[in-house]
Amino acid sequence: MRISVDQTLCSGHGRCYSLAPEVFFADDDGFSLQRGEEFDVAPANESIARAGVLACPEGAIKIL
Ligand code: F3S
Repeated sequence: MRISVDQTLCSGHGRCYSLAPEVFFADDDGFSLQRGEEFDVAPANESIARAGVLACPEGAIKIL
């Protein structure tokens, strides 16, 4: 699974890394550290990654 985090949509709600800390990480200001990035998710973390994607109220995270 490959995921992208939209740099302009992430508003720092923090639900992604709260729900799925194995996949998503916070920067010092509470935004996603992975804003503007695409990255691969290990098969073992795909389920929790999907939960993080669905939890973002801004729709900033997409499964590619
Ligand atoms: Fe940002 Fe959405 Fe996570 S707004 S910090 S990508 S829950």
